[in-house]
Amino acid sequence: MRAEDILKEYAEVVDKEMEKLFENRRYLLYDMMRYHLGWLDENLRKVEQYRGKRFRPTLCLLVYSSIAGVYDKALPAAVAIELIHNFSLIHDDIEDMDEERRHRPTVWKLFGIPHAINAGDGMHVLANIAALKLRERYVSSDKILDVLEILNNAVMNLCEGQFLDMSFQDRDTITMQEYMEMIYKKTASLIEASCKIGAILATDDEEIVNRFSSFGRNIGLAFQIVDDIIGIWGKEEKTGKPVASDIRNKKKSMPIVCVFESDRRDEIVEIYRKEKLSEEDIEKVLNILNELNILEVCKKEAEKFKKIALEELEKTGIKNEPIEKIKTLAEFLIEREY
Ligand code: IPE
Ligand code: IPE
Ligand code: MG
Ligand code: MG
Repeated sequence: MRAEDILKEYAEVVDKEMEKLFENRRYLLYDMMRYHLGWLDENLRKVEQYRGKRFRPTLCLLVYSSIAGVYDKALPAAVAIELIHNFSLIHDDIEDMDEERRHRPTVWKLFGIPHAINAGDGMHVLANIAALKLRERYVSSDKILDVLEILNNAVMNLCEGQFLDMSFQDRDTITMQEYMEMIYKKTASLIEASCKIGAILATDDEEIVNRFSSFGRNIGLAFQIVDDIIGIWGKEEKTGKPVASDIRNKKKSMPIVCVFESDRRDEIVEIYRKEKLSEEDIEKVLNILNELNILEVCKKEAEKFKKIALEELEKTGIKNEPIEKIKTLAEFLIEREY
């Protein structure tokens, strides 16, 4: 089965469950959320369109079913994870001042920053309400508390990661170690949580839970490195974001950190000191990156973490169809262009 077909199959299940949370919620507040989730268009009319990959809840459900055989009990937690991810994107687009996401105007661009902050906050709370629905599936209170603890720790990490990401924008250089800490917190932690929750709902075996967590953490690191590659070399028609957007925003993404660690460091520091980068500056940065072969360096880094992730998966000792699907997804997350 192709990765995109796996994602599509699970996205349908997740969205169906997610829609239930929105029943009888009528304010424009909820329509902003529906817009962000891809259920409504800019005129707030129902649409069928690209909604994002939904890979975090898919991983959660696949991990659960690789241990338990079915996925139904994990569904409320999977929904909670996707809502957390999307609330963080609504806020991230304000923080990054990005005007486009998933080929459409961002929530703040369409409704203004105050509404976007509030819609993000509301979606965060909906995530917790979603997780509490584990009760309706007869999950024990202890396990529900475990899930809530994992989710809250992941969101705290995410906020810390976003804090670091923003702080780094005001600094001349950062080290690779600082970069890795930042991406673990802003991105890998939630992916780790998706896998950990899938496992913890299905088993009390700590070894298995740790292996799946580690899989999630490592594939999450690889995922963000690829996101950084796409942020510079991605094609607008695939990414739904402007070309070289991360350079334009002077993001300290992995390719740039690689230059900080090279003998071309001073050149890039000089350019990044400017208040706003011109088209010529962006060209210059791209040239430095190309001359240093940074694309290949970053791809190798992503591969390295993917390899560790797959080894962890192997060490669970579990062999079945859901595990094969997880492997397919892991490959896709590293090869992806969007
Ligand atoms: C984008 O995540 C934000 C990061 C953490 C890098 P995704 O690439 O999973 O976003 P969607 O949901 O598929 O649009
Ligand atoms: C990841 O950071 C976003 C979150 C963790 C919320 P980015 O700012 O790099 O993500 P994109 O590229 O805008 O999706
Ligand atoms: Mg962003
Ligand atoms: Mg950001």
